[in-house]
Amino acid sequence: MTLRLLAEVSPHDLLVGLAELQNHLLGYVKSMALKCAVDLGIPNAIYRRGGAATLAEIATDTAVHPAKVPDLQRVMELLSTSGIFSATAGEDSGGFGVVVYGLTTASRFLVGWRNLSPMVPFLVSPVVVSSFFSMCDWFRSEPAAAGSLFELAHGCSQRDMAGKDAALNSALNDYVVADSQLFLEVIILDKGRIFRGLSSLIDVGGGHGAATQIIARAFPRIKCTVLDLPHVVGQVTACDGELHFIAGDMFESIPPADAVLLKNILHEWGDEDCVKILQRCKEAIPSRHAGGKVIIIDMVRGSAKGDSKISEMEAIQNMFMMHVNGMERGENEWKKIFSDAGFSADYKIMPILGPLSVIEIYP
Ligand SMILES: C[S@@+](CC[C@H](N)C(=O)[O-])C[C@H]1O[C@@H](n2cnc3c(N)ncnc32)[C@H](O)[C@@H]1O
Repeated sequence: MTLRLLAEVSPHDLLVGLAELQNHLLGYVKSMALKCAVDLGIPNAIYRRGGAATLAEIATDTAVHPAKVPDLQRVMELLSTSGIFSATAGEDSGGFGVVVYGLTTASRFLVGWRNLSPMVPFLVSPVVVSSFFSMCDWFRSEPAAAGSLFELAHGCSQRDMAGKDAALNSALNDYVVADSQLFLEVIILDKGRIFRGLSSLIDVGGGHGAATQIIARAFPRIKCTVLDLPHVVGQVTACDGELHFIAGDMFESIPPADAVLLKNILHEWGDEDCVKILQRCKEAIPSRHAGGKVIIIDMVRGSAKGDSKISEMEAIQNMFMMHVNGMERGENEWKKIFSDAGFSADYKIMPILGPLSVIEIYP
């Protein structure tokens, strides 16, 4: 087979194919380099130097041992090749030619007041990454016996482990807070009208209330409540002040409110569980005539329209959600769940940033 391939394919195409294979096999090295850069504080070091820094400056600012500077250069080379940093030719203070590293749009998400760097310790944690090692066994096993990839690898669900492991719980909640702080502000700026006129809102699975806090500040007349599992609500501190927190289970009952918010919840569950959650939501809200609605913030696949980076992101996110038996859905998949849960057919999908969308559904 390989010999035939050598005869049939041009040397350039062979090389591109080999590079594609190697890049896939070692794709995790990119994740690790990014994790290392965030752990060392490299994006912030570049940011604090006005957005441009040499290798020597980055090494000094991040306390890298002088003997390891050539190795740091490898990290910077990879992350510049892959679009996390920019690399341009410049001069050092002595007039010698050096590479100057800068922030790109991607790494600007890792610096400043609202940033996504807290996503790294969770998404690139050994406990999450190792779930994917059991994928082959998982595909061949009886669904009820194996559970999710995470359960097969670790013997318990991610939620149960977070309930027992304080470090994982904190990493997960910090991730949620960072994501909420950034995206809720964007959503309120762009689609704030979805919250207007509400007198009460319950954020189901709202974690430490980061999303709700932003809504409560922008719309002080809304009585905002967060419902989450006891181990999550138990970690909430006094500074989370103006919100009400309730420890409970969204599969059992959801306290009444004009609107229920489900942000990044349904993509963690299979269709049957989503229908059950939405049925509990429907019981919690008034009729449509009285303003009742469920606000879902989640991905709606299919917005990529030929953009291979966005298509890849959708496919990676969809596969990532497999580790907890969740999935990212396209409009038709959402539509079926809404209908099975008894909601009206005239839902509204409002794209925020590519596939990231707000969906309003009505009883
Ligand atoms: C991915 S996080 C999403 C957090 C948040 N909504 C956000 O801003 O993205 C999922 C949340 O659902 C909560 N959760 C999971 N099962 C739950 C249940 N049965 N009842 C209530 N909350 C639950 C988890 O504790 C976690 O805080």
